[in-house]
Amino acid sequence: MELIDGKKIAGQIKEELAAGVSRLVAAGKKVPHLAAVLVGDDAASETYVASKVKACQAVGMKSTALRYPATITEEQLLEVIDRLNGDDDVDGYIVQLPLPRHVREERILERVDPAKDVDGFHPFNVGKMTLGLPAYLPATPAGIVELLARHGVETAGKHCVVVGRSNIVGTPVAVLMSRKAARANCTVTLCHSRTPDIRSFTLQADILIVAIGSPRFITADMVKEGAVVVDVGIHREPSATTKSGFRLVGDVDFDAVAPRCSAITPVPGGVGPMTIVSLLRNTLLAANR
Ligand code: GUN
Repeated sequence: MELIDGKKIAGQIKEELAAGVSRLVAAGKKVPHLAAVLVGDDAASETYVASKVKACQAVGMKSTALRYPATITEEQLLEVIDRLNGDDDVDGYIVQLPLPRHVREERILERVDPAKDVDGFHPFNVGKMTLGLPAYLPATPAGIVELLARHGVETAGKHCVVVGRSNIVGTPVAVLMSRKAARANCTVTLCHSRTPDIRSFTLQADILIVAIGSPRFITADMVKEGAVVVDVGIHREPSATTKSGFRLVGDVDFDAVAPRCSAITPVPGGVGPMTIVSLLRNTLLAANR
């Protein structure tokens, strides 16, 4: 069993991105600038945005985190979006999800200028991605494709089973893996919460991508011997053996599943770091335009 080291691969990509930023600045362009809109005080969102800000610093990009209380109205948030769309210093920005329940996510995401939509969540960019046209690809799916390619996982002709159909991960990664393109060309099955007997599908997977949002959902009996497993989940679990009193676990029961795999991503240090570098890559693309 090989560990797919997302942290190491993301480190290499960060060096490439830092070189890209240097080239841009040496050519007299401004420093690429990513902004992140954070609404409310969701602990996980705080952590993600802090990681994104730190990663920007590491590659020489500028970043701004814009924080608003959970009581912000939809109209007020739309004004924030309009300001960012009109701010020439901001090359790209993201609206960290989830948003409070009283704010309609689609309404906010549709207001983002597609040219600054480095999360790739605007319907225009989702449409372009689905058609195989150049677009900002959503960060986690793009990170997974990059991770498999750089680890040397052959995808053409393989059966890729995706578990989870979210707009952020499951649905777009199913689209990317099935495209007629290098690093893709898989036969894809998309399983979700209403799939009966999920195990009968996951057992067929040469490549199993799990983004169901449920800790240790995938157990050893659900995985074919020799499969490649990509775990997108990240959950905090109380632990008596760590100093912090908790540990991070994924959607895959790693200890039981790993011995069956030819390769598997760890949590943490697998998909997470790749998501962040994908976002930075989109920001560099935006700055180059
Ligand atoms: N929430 C969970 N993942 C993401 C992501 O990739 N982008 C944004 N904006 N919010 C998220």
